[in-house]
Amino acid sequence: MSDTLLVTGASGYIGSHTCVCLLQAGWHVIAIDNLSNSSPRTIERIQEITGRSVPFHTIDVRDESALTRLLNQENISAAIHFAGLKSVSESVNKPLTYFDNNVNGSITLLKVLHQQGVRKLVFSSSATVYGDPKKVPIQEDASLSATNPYGRSKLFVEQILNDLSQADPEWRIATLRYFNPAGAHESGLLGEDPRGIPNNLMPYIAQVAVGKLPHLSVFGNDYPTTDGTGVRDYIHVMDLAQGHVSALNRLFAKPESFTVNLGTGQGITVLEAVAAFEQACGSHIPIQVAPRRPGDIATCYASADKARELLNWQANKTLDQMVDDHWRWQSHNPNGY
Ligand code: NAD
Ligand code: UFG
Repeated sequence: MSDTLLVTGASGYIGSHTCVCLLQAGWHVIAIDNLSNSSPRTIERIQEITGRSVPFHTIDVRDESALTRLLNQENISAAIHFAGLKSVSESVNKPLTYFDNNVNGSITLLKVLHQQGVRKLVFSSSATVYGDPKKVPIQEDASLSATNPYGRSKLFVEQILNDLSQADPEWRIATLRYFNPAGAHESGLLGEDPRGIPNNLMPYIAQVAVGKLPHLSVFGNDYPTTDGTGVRDYIHVMDLAQGHVSALNRLFAKPESFTVNLGTGQGITVLEAVAAFEQACGSHIPIQVAPRRPGDIATCYASADKARELLNWQANKTLDQMVDDHWRWQSHNPNGY
């Protein structure tokens, strides 16, 4: 495939890994990011891994004129829209910032794509739109809800995309609901590089393992799960990245919009994740049991059936590969990029 794709949020965690898979599948990529939560070094590393060049532009997706100028110069066939802010706790304190970035940013991008005649989009949504699921594994037709501004921003954009594809069936939109991405590219050159103290489990464990943080606080050990700790569906970021290639292939093959989960279908507890990481790094990860984190749910994992049927995609990597790759990245890059 030699079409050109616009990738927003391309220097971020999932965007950078997805660029590798897109380039290796033969697509051309034009990368944009405002660098609010990432380093431009990711672009150098994508080029190093793939041997392909990636034109990069520092552009905010809310900047309509900069986007228009760029798309006037490039012949784009589709866009993958990763750009956005993703911290649940920050969103509670800065709701307007989150709605502006995530909702207005998406609307601006959609307007410019529309003006330029681009009608194919892949959107990064989240399992957070399922709220506290009534049953697991979670199927795509489960009821939707959100408990914080970040989650609502994803839900609003999903609704906007539904309305858009209803109004103009020429739009082909893939809404991908990610479960919990973890791991890194197997080279150790690309990985997650959170600013400040990580919010999420895997990067937190990794920073304890490398000696930057003293211990992991386990948020609750009295949930109704096998060992009392929270259950999540951790998916290797390279499997997730590959899911985007499959989604794009489907968009180019069939004139339809769709929504799918990208998860493994398997739930892992916090203590199981810690044990796997200890194996990978060969040292003990000290833990302290702490109160439940407000807003956390007990159990969340995907039904992966629809993605398998519709996209012929499934996650292939194991938890051990995920933590091995995460550890390789963290130990080779203890201070990130
Ligand atoms: P990330 O922060 O590493 O990447 C997002 C990128 O978008 C960053 O490089 C940031 O600088 C950029 N960005 C933010 N606002 C922008 C703007 N207005 N204009 C241009 N660039 C902007 O996060 P990620 O983990 O790679 O997440 C990518 C997408 O996937 C996000 O939309 C996120 O909400 C979604 N998602 C992430 C997770 C997760 O756990 N990582 C789970 C579900 C969904
Ligand atoms: N946890 C700890 N200690 C920590 C961090 C997390 O015990 O320091 C526990 C949590 O309580 C939870 C599990 O580890 O049981 C996973 O927590 P994460 O913060 O890594 O992930 P969440 O499932 O809570 O949320 C993440 C993103 C959301 C996104 C969701 C689904 O932060 O934005 O995955 O994709 F919506």
